[in-house]
Amino acid sequence: MCGIVGYVGKSQAAPILLDGLAKLEYRGYDSAGIAVYDGEHLVGKKAMGRLKVLSEMTHDGASMPGYVGIGHTRWATHGAPTDNNAHPHFNEDETIAVVHNGIIENYLKLKKKLLDKGYRFQSDTDTEVVAHLLDYYYKGDPLEAITKVMHRVDGSYALGIIFADQPQYVYAVRKDSPLIVGKGQDGNLIASDVPAVLKYTRDVCFIENQEIARLSEREIDFFNVDGEPIEKEYKTIEWDVNAAEKGGYEHFMLKEMYEQPKTVRDTLSPRLKDNQIEIEELGLTDEEIRAISRIRIVACGSAYHTGVTAKYVYEGMARIPVEVDLASEFRYRNPILDEKELVIIISQSGETADSLAALREAKARGNMTLGIVNVVGSSIAREADKVMYTWAGPEIAVATTKAYSAQLIAHYLLALKFSTVRGTITEEELAGYITDLKRLPEQIELLLNNKERIQRFANRYVSAKDVFFIGRGIDYAISLEGSLKLKEISYIHSEAYAAGELKHGTISLIEDGTLVSAVVTQEDLYKKTISNIVEVRTRGAFVMAVTNEGNTEIEKAADYVIYIPQTNKYFTNSLAIIPLQLFGYYVAVGKGCDVDKPRNLAKSVTVE
Ligand code: G6P
Repeated sequence: MCGIVGYVGKSQAAPILLDGLAKLEYRGYDSAGIAVYDGEHLVGKKAMGRLKVLSEMTHDGASMPGYVGIGHTRWATHGAPTDNNAHPHFNEDETIAVVHNGIIENYLKLKKKLLDKGYRFQSDTDTEVVAHLLDYYYKGDPLEAITKVMHRVDGSYALGIIFADQPQYVYAVRKDSPLIVGKGQDGNLIASDVPAVLKYTRDVCFIENQEIARLSEREIDFFNVDGEPIEKEYKTIEWDVNAAEKGGYEHFMLKEMYEQPKTVRDTLSPRLKDNQIEIEELGLTDEEIRAISRIRIVACGSAYHTGVTAKYVYEGMARIPVEVDLASEFRYRNPILDEKELVIIISQSGETADSLAALREAKARGNMTLGIVNVVGSSIAREADKVMYTWAGPEIAVATTKAYSAQLIAHYLLALKFSTVRGTITEEELAGYITDLKRLPEQIELLLNNKERIQRFANRYVSAKDVFFIGRGIDYAISLEGSLKLKEISYIHSEAYAAGELKHGTISLIEDGTLVSAVVTQEDLYKKTISNIVEVRTRGAFVMAVTNEGNTEIEKAADYVIYIPQTNKYFTNSLAIIPLQLFGYYVAVGKGCDVDKPRNLAKSVTVE
């Protein structure tokens, strides 16, 4: 959601800015722009639509000379996605350029004050307020003006700023929106996320809330909100630059689906030692684990769906009661938390605004918080009391696949750990679960290799109007994610229902040929779900079933069957989701949709 890049150095800035913005496309955007200092003035170029338009307009940046600049991909919040509303925004005489990610919540009040003082606005954005406010406070000392603005604005922001009369510097500042600094050989960079700078450096520094960075070609200095110098540490990024490239696959989503066996292996193996679960970084004592009265899982989107699965796993295996909450609901509900409740926040990006706010809410109430996070050094990872990383590597496609799979593994590991400590499973059972866990990567691989069959089937549904996903227990949780995968990238309406619930209203939507996907992996519920399959089939539905190998009985009820390899009842989600991901993907490809960057969606939702 909005991407920021800034550069100052020996090379021409514009091509570097465009390249960096391309690496941030996954965040979701609807317009893009860059501003460079050309030796005399700040010059801006903006364009609605894809980055390609801006690249063509500037001849891949070549027609914009200058060695310092800032760039932005915008995901509209305040003001429609137009050229005018695209960033960078300028003060009136175009001597200050600003790019912004986040929302300035008191912008209307500030705008009114600025209008009263005679400032004129070009756009409908909240960001333009920052440009004029900087102008208002700027008396030749950028740091002073920036800190004054920081004291005046409410809300969230990551800002990249250039002052035309000090063109040797790029300034960066953040509050509740991610921003990093990269220390390069020939110059220095700022960006919303690591992939944007990886081509130039692996040495990055995460700007914390209310901190300011000042970059010149050779130096990077950091300051606090009072403008006082502070020391910061750099981290070396270990993952490969190729991890953020498509590597021969048609889409990032397909590549990332194919990375799932590795992701699962990487998330598992450091925690499996001598047939025991050891999650070193967790830092919870056995006593603390035994004291947990309830687990509260809070997340958004697909991460929330892994929480729905996890409820069945923690409750079934470790016998700990679990509540699963949508972060956007939790934060405003004045929830009742038991003091011994462990609050687990799940987030791929570690930056989702609602999840971060929920984390803070739980912390403020004194509860122990655990973040299951993919992005190292992200806000949730830094702020949670404990962190367990999912080792999925950078995920670029907006629709998550491998991070989702890694999150499931993190839950299984935690559930096994808790169950062992609390004595709800025996050593022998643990050994069996570990054997099943270790087999998951190759079983996922097997399912991925079956992609042509699913592609052929998916091609029949590119013009579908509605699709329903049903299942019971964990199979319901899988259906939630299967349905989301399909609708978010193919724009086909779909809904997931607990199989027994469909007949309480929604069954009236079933027409001749309506596709119903039924997930049937829980043996004790086979018969129940099969009854629901029969109910929809007799009303004309075409039923695709995903079930365990050996459950051939289902062929009598369903029209089309996909078998998944045998695993224990708690881990079936990791396998059953693969054909559903492939199905959603191939329907979207068949329809010619922009699979990696679906309309209106953002990878990292940093506004509430
Ligand atoms: C967005 C993404 C989803 C993701 C959700 C939560 O909506 O498109 O794929 O599941 O945010 O993101 P997080 O980074 O917190 O896991």
